Amino acid sequence: MKIAFFGTKPYDKIWFSALAKDYGYTIQFFEAKLNEETVSLAKGYDAVCAFVNDELTKKVIDELVNYKVRGILMRCAGYNNVDLEAAKGRIPILRVPSYSPEAVAEFAIAMYLTINRKTHKGYNRTREFNMNINGLMGQDLYHKTAGIIGTGKIGQAMIRICKGFGMRVLAYDVYQNPELDVEYTDLDTIYEKSHMISLHCPLTKDNYHMIQEKSLKKMRDGVYIINTSRGALIKTSDLLEALLKPGKIGGVGLDVYEEEGDVFYEDKSNEIMRDDVLARLVTFPNVLITSHQGYFTKEAMQAIAITTMENAYVLDKGLKMENEVVLPD
Ligand code: NAI
Repeated sequence: MKIAFFGTKPYDKIWFSALAKDYGYTIQFFEAKLNEETVSLAKGYDAVCAFVNDELTKKVIDELVNYKVRGILMRCAGYNNVDLEAAKGRIPILRVPSYSPEAVAEFAIAMYLTINRKTHKGYNRTREFNMNINGLMGQDLYHKTAGIIGTGKIGQAMIRICKGFGMRVLAYDVYQNPELDVEYTDLDTIYEKSHMISLHCPLTKDNYHMIQEKSLKKMRDGVYIINTSRGALIKTSDLLEALLKPGKIGGVGLDVYEEEGDVFYEDKSNEIMRDDVLARLVTFPNVLITSHQGYFTKEAMQAIAITTMENAYVLDKGLKMENEVVLPD
């Protein structure tokens, strides 16, 4: 089987090359992201492998079908960047539903702790032997309220972590899990009561820009907002407005950003930043932005590689595709 990997970085090669040999598959690693301009690179391959910022539009899917590509292997959990309608019944999409929920949840709490306790500032100060701690005061997590939106695998890991800190945890999900020992409530209550709100739901048509002016208004003053899910859950322009209101936002941790496609995972340090919103966001002392690295642990990378190669194998052999993304009829 010949697989075209898109949007790859050196670390992808490390994890996938060795495994592909075991399966007897050939991988071509393309640095280019998969989109309408680059899809022709997929000609002659049996499958393509894509990641979070590839653009699997209808046109891309049509071309892949034309080239007789047999399947799309997403080396991630999310698939909001795939036109599922266009793919339905024409080309299977397989994903990695779970690799290390703890990787993302641990990163989310790290973001909260960083912006709350200002360790990033402490690090910079002491490197210059500025041992002054003025302005570095944070808050205890103990007995504060965490609002967790989305109680799937990552949300559950986050709930366990927050409880470990002695936090009260409120949760919201479109489907409540009766086996979960957590206080489910509605979104408004989460907004009103939480000291920290962490997003762990997928991006869908229903929750696009769920955090916007109205929901931000409902939140308590000094709220911390952590988004490790998908950028477009937050209307960034409204978040910027809220950040400008004195005392409204305690801090924001964004591992994802609605316009991340062109900038995340790339070194833009020698270029002029053309995204004014992102440029403005990074100037806030209480905003921490990372480049979609929540998943990026050794354990997660290994699990992603193993499941992706297993997905390639079942596709190749025509076996039952447990990890296929199926659009409901
Ligand atoms: P999951 O599928 O196990 O859980 C998602 C939960 O969200 C489900 O319980 C579902 O019912 C719920 N949900 C769906 N729509 C909702 C809505 N409108 N409001 C509230 N809840 C809703 O997914 P998992 O593995 O926990 O991942 C969650 C998200 O994390 C993924 O969709 C992805 O966007 C993001 N992610 C981010 C990574 C990163 O590196 N930053 C890595 C992996 C995932």
